Amino acid sequence: MPEQETLWRRAAQERRATALAHPNIAFIKYWGNQDDEMVLPANPSLSMNLAAFTTVTTVAFDDTLPADTLTINQTEAGGDALARVGKILDLVRQASGLHSRARVESVSNVPMGAGIASSAAAFAALSLAASAAAGLPRDEAALSRLARRGSGSACRSVPGGFCRWDTGDDESSVAVSIAPAEHWALWDVVAVVSEAHKQVGSSGGHPLAATSDLHPARIAGAGRRVEVCQQAILARDLAAMGPVIEEDAVMMHAVMMTGRPPLYYWTPATMALILAVQQWREDGIPVYFTIDAGPNVHCICPAGAVEAVAARARRVPGVQRVITSGPGGPARLVPAA
Ligand code: PMV
Repeated sequence: MPEQETLWRRAAQERRATALAHPNIAFIKYWGNQDDEMVLPANPSLSMNLAAFTTVTTVAFDDTLPADTLTINQTEAGGDALARVGKILDLVRQASGLHSRARVESVSNVPMGAGIASSAAAFAALSLAASAAAGLPRDEAALSRLARRGSGSACRSVPGGFCRWDTGDDESSVAVSIAPAEHWALWDVVAVVSEAHKQVGSSGGHPLAATSDLHPARIAGAGRRVEVCQQAILARDLAAMGPVIEEDAVMMHAVMMTGRPPLYYWTPATMALILAVQQWREDGIPVYFTIDAGPNVHCICPAGAVEAVAARARRVPGVQRVITSGPGGPARLVPAA
């Protein structure tokens, strides 16, 4: 990507860069860490970037600033959000030797409360923009490693298309693309059943994973599920992929529900959708579900089945709206707005 090289060079000169990233949906889930501080996951995971949603973040280092500042969708942000952004900026300052504070402006069209983790796109875009603006070398593994420290799943939003994130140490636990977005027109049809802010988010949830007696069993089988899912993606074989992604999502929720304290993300509408997806398959529609840390159901199907799945999902009682996306590319620098 020669245009990326040019943008990267200009960013270093101007101490300012703008980056775009997509969120991702995990087919084999990440839940629980071996090391919470370094965000080293307990198991490998596999995901697809979502093209329909983007976060665009500008980072400008400025010697005259007394402290880092952050706006999200034109609104000044402080507290936890600013602290998490500051942590990434500190890592970039450490690596580059730069001491200036930064102005960070982030604009996102990821629908709030739709069960699509906006933090993945946010930390992927931030890591890229901050690294470029600080003049660090252009290195996908280093960017994935940095994004991981902001939010684990963010490391999978750095490379493009279908991405795998392995366990390991700080150096080796990064995401890599196993196939580009163009490889397979697989779609995510999200049936939104609740837009309420969840009571326990992923940062509060990961430390609870190990309190479930089911956690070791989920971890023991995750490597096999990643392999099955990866082979199915490479072969564009939804019939091989579907059962293992459903099994994996339900296992994650079983761990959540049996932790101490337990986390119940499902509502009656979640269960209704699980049963509906089974029925739609019996009716001949190729579709399988996955569910993140929330009640909304992601229906995974080929591009040709999106209309049929979306129309049926809208008719399930409790579904408030349906949003759709195909596979997305890597995080990348874009010209300043
Ligand atoms: O990256 P985090 O800390 O927001 O955790 C994401 C957890 C899940 O979305 C539930 C699963 C995953 O692998 O994305």
